[in-house]
Formats: sequence, structure tokens, C-alpha cells
Amino acid sequence: MEFKFLQPNETPMDLLLLADPDESVVQEYLPQSKILAAISEGNIEGIIVFLETSESKLELMNIAVYPQYQKKGIGSQLLKESIQWALLHRFSSIELGTGTFGYQLAFYQKAGFRVDKILKDHFLNNYPAPIFELGIQHKDMLRLKLDLDNMAAQ
Ligand code: COA
Repeated sequence: MEFKFLQPNETPMDLLLLADPDESVVQEYLPQSKILAAISEGNIEGIIVFLETSESKLELMNIAVYPQYQKKGIGSQLLKESIQWALLHRFSSIELGTGTFGYQLAFYQKAGFRVDKILKDHFLNNYPAPIFELGIQHKDMLRLKLDLDNMAAQ
């Protein structure tokens, strides 16, 4: 497995859409994003996408691994590699938005992310179609934050 930065036009849209169902939203952030890919034998198996929202802050916009490669540690490795990259480049935090339930919450918290705030009705007001997971509709968004300054000091 190797980790390599990709250009936006090298990033498979079907992979990005696994994490973000709205292609028009993906197209808004992709051109300005940093994209790290997990590649095995020349095949892209997973990606993680960041935007620099200020000189010191990163926003995790998208993380996705193709279903046939999930649960093998690739997502965790992508997150770990990018946290190391962010520490090296002296970013002070990584933030992200996610649903209020699902395995993704545990996935991020294992990497050190903490709940920062809640955006009520975010998925109802900002997405054209309802989003369901485990038979439950996503309505509110949780904002999570990883404090890199704190990590670097430890
Ligand atoms: N259902 C339930 N648990 C899952 C899962 C699934 N489909 N996929 C991963 N997990 C769990 C793993 O069991 C593991 O838990 P553990 O640490 O207790 O063993 C944990 O998530 C991390 O697994 P890992 O193998 O490192 O992650 P991954 O390579 O499967 O990638 C995602 C994780 C989230 C990137 C991947 O599941 C994915 O692409 N999901 C669809 C897109 C998505 O939801 N992106 C995030 C949007 S907020």
C-alpha cells in the first residue's frame, strides 16, 4: 500500500460519492482540495480530501474506501497518514461534519476527534434528497474537531 497525493481530475467521482451523495457539493470543494489516496498495485482503493479553511485549519471534506476494501484498516491508515502530514505542516486543527449516529462516529473518535458542536436540521436544510442510514434519516450534523496543537504538545 502506498499513499500518494492526487490531482482533482485524477480522483474517482464514484469513490467521492460514497461519502457525499451530492455531486454538485463535491464539485464545489474538489478543485481547491488536497487529496491523499491509498493505492495498491496501481489501483486507488481509498481517498481522503481536505480543504485549508485558514492558514492553520483543515476541514476533512471526504473520506471513502471502496466497499470491497473496507474494514481492512485502509480508512484508519488514510486518517493516520493525513494527521501526520497536518502535524508536520503545523496545522492547529482538523474539523469535519458528520451524522449523529453510525460507525463513522466511533471511527473518528478512535483517531482522537471530539464533538465540538451540533448543527440542528443541517441535512434537512442543505441536501436536496433525504439521507437514510440503518433505516434512520440523518437530520442533524455533528461538528467534530481534532486539536493538533494539543497532540503535538504530548
Ligand atoms: N459498517 C460498520 N463498520 C464499519 C464499516 C461498515 N461499512 N466500515 C468500516 N467499519 C468500521 C471497522 O469495523 C472499524 O472498526 P474497529 O476499529 O472497531 O475495528 C472502523 O470502522 C475503521 O475501519 P477501517 O478498516 O480502518 O476503515 P475503512 O477502510 O473501512 O474506511 C470509511 C472507513 C468510513 C472511510 C469507509 O467505511 C467508507 O468509505 N464508508 C463510506 C463512506 C463514508 O461513510 N465516509 C465517511 C463520511 S462521514
